[in-house]
Amino acid sequence: MPAIHPSPDRMASLQRAERERFIATHPRSMALARAAQAHYLFGVPLHWMRDWPSPATLFVQHAQGTTLTCADDLAHADFCLGDTGAMFGHSPAPLARAIAQQAAQGLTCMLPSILAATVGEGLQRVFGLPVWQMALTASDANRFVLRWARAITGRPQLLVFDGCYHGAVDDTLVDLDPATGATLARPSVLGQVHNHAAFTRVVPFNDLAALEAALSRGDVACLLAEPALTNFGLVPPAPGFWAAARDLCRAHGTLFVCDETHTISTALGGYAQAHALEPDFLVVGKAVAGGLPCAVYGFTQAMARRMAAAKDAAPEGHSGIGTTLAGNALTLAALDAALNHLHTAANYTHMLGIAAALETGLRGRIAQAGMPWTVTRLGARMELQFMPHTPRDAQDVRDHAQGELEALTHLFMLNRGVLLTPFHSMLLVSPATTAADVVRLLSVFDALLAALVPA
Ligand SMILES: Cc1ncc(COP(=O)(O)O)c(C=O)c1O
Repeated sequence: MPAIHPSPDRMASLQRAERERFIATHPRSMALARAAQAHYLFGVPLHWMRDWPSPATLFVQHAQGTTLTCADDLAHADFCLGDTGAMFGHSPAPLARAIAQQAAQGLTCMLPSILAATVGEGLQRVFGLPVWQMALTASDANRFVLRWARAITGRPQLLVFDGCYHGAVDDTLVDLDPATGATLARPSVLGQVHNHAAFTRVVPFNDLAALEAALSRGDVACLLAEPALTNFGLVPPAPGFWAAARDLCRAHGTLFVCDETHTISTALGGYAQAHALEPDFLVVGKAVAGGLPCAVYGFTQAMARRMAAAKDAAPEGHSGIGTTLAGNALTLAALDAALNHLHTAANYTHMLGIAAALETGLRGRIAQAGMPWTVTRLGARMELQFMPHTPRDAQDVRDHAQGELEALTHLFMLNRGVLLTPFHSMLLVSPATTAADVVRLLSVFDALLAALVPA
């Protein structure tokens, strides 16, 4: 039986060797990182870009399809895909064409372009809901939907699942105190002065009794949830969970807001349609327009009527919903191209087939090496999990966290031309991902196993 937990000494020496290897093979990224230090906080345009485990950030020369070429001219098979923004591949040709064409015809006018009605039809065709509004990011879309939900129900409380992430939305940046069931402010959040714990309840995912208890006071405007937790590892819903959860929301007059930003990896049109979740609101960002900044939220006709009534009843002035550039002409052109050419059955057939092959390959190797790890897959996205079973909830993930092993895995793979999402071990397959990319990833995974468990 192999030693399945590498010793701390072995982990440290592997980590050291990988850092040295990165420095030796990425001189230009190292130099660009030093130059960028002068003008950017932490040396990067967005501080999360330092969350990769490499000694310096990988600077990108270009990205096309599934291949990301760094400043040192090294080609990487990209399974991170911009943490879903590039889920349909980098710069797909129909999208690049539409953007180039519109770029010469006006970018933003604070008026709808002639494509608006067509795009609305496309959104209904792909995602099923009849009425839509636009934002530039999924964070914004979620924030706006929360405002609408509170406005139309007249209820103050929001309900989320422990381990949720819905973007930079203050109300949702909370944790569950497992000892008391109380809501805690998330300690990592900076500059927080309002007590969102007072207006947000948190319950464990897959826990119907806790969900019912949280709803039973009759003051929850909406449940904001991903169909599966995707930002705390990947935690799928237990069989029957959503049917029961949906019924509970209806019984207590609570709206159900489904954040599909990541779970559109499940199937064409997302998880909610594939599993008949019937949300009142649906939010999709990131990849919805192929990675051009865009997010949309859709809703039922019943919601549309209540939203119109709330707006009509409010005094003239700022609604607190919307930003100047939302729904701009460039975004509409990109979204139109994406709805017609990226959100297609053919693309999903390809993505799901490749993802299944990757899952099978990883599982087989894990079993053969006798590692206590698992792989959880949701359509085109999967998670390599350093725990022996599919997690039930966020606490289960916390209990099995192996940060060092995760960081080593990411750097080991990056050094051999395979990119995983840095925040956890998420792998995403695009329409441009090939069987050869899968072979490449699996051969690097073989090398990782051999390094961790020397013969
Ligand atoms: C489920 C979900 N919703 C919303 C967001 C926010 O997206 P953005 O950062 O593009 O606003 C994220 C980001 O990771 C997400 O995972």
